[in-house]
Amino acid sequence: MNICVTGGAGYIGSFIVRRLCELEHRVTVVDDLSKGHMEAVDPRAHFIQADCGDKRAMAELLAGRRIEAVVHMAASSLVGESVTAPAKYYRNNLIASLSLLDAMAEAKVSRLVFSSSAAVYGEPERQPIAEDAATVPINPYGRTKLLFEQALPDFAAAYGLGAVCLRYFNVAGALPDGTLGEDHNPESHLIPLVFQAALGLRKSITIFGDDYPTPDGTCIRDYIHVLDLADAHVLAIEAAEAGQVAAFNLGNGDGFSVRQVIESAQRVVGRPIPTEIGPRRPGDPPVLVASSEKIASQLGWDPARGDIEMILDDAWAFHQSHPKGY
Ligand code: UFG
Repeated sequence: MNICVTGGAGYIGSFIVRRLCELEHRVTVVDDLSKGHMEAVDPRAHFIQADCGDKRAMAELLAGRRIEAVVHMAASSLVGESVTAPAKYYRNNLIASLSLLDAMAEAKVSRLVFSSSAAVYGEPERQPIAEDAATVPINPYGRTKLLFEQALPDFAAAYGLGAVCLRYFNVAGALPDGTLGEDHNPESHLIPLVFQAALGLRKSITIFGDDYPTPDGTCIRDYIHVLDLADAHVLAIEAAEAGQVAAFNLGNGDGFSVRQVIESAQRVVGRPIPTEIGPRRPGDPPVLVASSEKIASQLGWDPARGDIEMILDDAWAFHQSHPKGY
């Protein structure tokens, strides 16, 4: 298939591009390189540096390259920043995405896989979270993801779009050989920061709050390996059905506290990692654990690297070989 991946130079996007290339799809990456890394883009893909919100350019590109499916990953994704700079999030995640849909309709591209987030749920009371839980986002990031999801049924009805929204929980891990992994600047995610502390690149890892209503007082998250996530995208592309919109959670169904992640990371690196306790980070729900039964039963998704130590082992391989990133 001819597949366009927006944000294909980013952490998650680069893994999806690699998997699609492995499966011999013809992949076009559109990325403005504002966050992504050229080094992470699979050389088998065709790379175009562009803004996926440029409707004219995208309509021409999609038609010219006979694109049959779009995997839309390009987005701003820092919850804290979305609170202080919401305009950027509405522009990049909502306006640009709607304009991409407009370009897809014009170029008659009818399959979309959209990178959505657990952030659409806000702070649900019941865990694990199923797709029919109430969607009440608590920050602009989550709202922009949800608003875009909500526009999709109208495009499905009017233009025959088939869309699959994948609501990611906490994506982590790397290629086991350490050649491809997570490199954000600035880094804000727990696992890369823990390994930076392990490498002595930062003094310690700060635990954001130890007074949450959880067994050890720290926040609980559901970590999913980026390779398993990439497999889910392949299934989602195949499942996108004209005129239909579906949403699936992606997690492992197991919650790990911040302390448990740090303890596992210590086992992986084989030495203590300095930690300190800091205040809560605004906007962090205490617990987010996915039920991924729907994608398992409906699309046959079967994660191969769900074990937290496996996820950490692979992430450690990347951070050791790329201590300062790409
Ligand atoms: N944490 C720390 N110290 C740090 C960094 C993180 O204690 O230095 C904690 C956080 O408070 C949170 C957990 O570790 O409890 C995980 O934090 P991350 O920043 O790694 O991930 P989030 O759960 O905040 O974010 C994830 C995705 C985001 C997405 C968000 C939606 O990485 O892209 O879920 O809920 F927006």
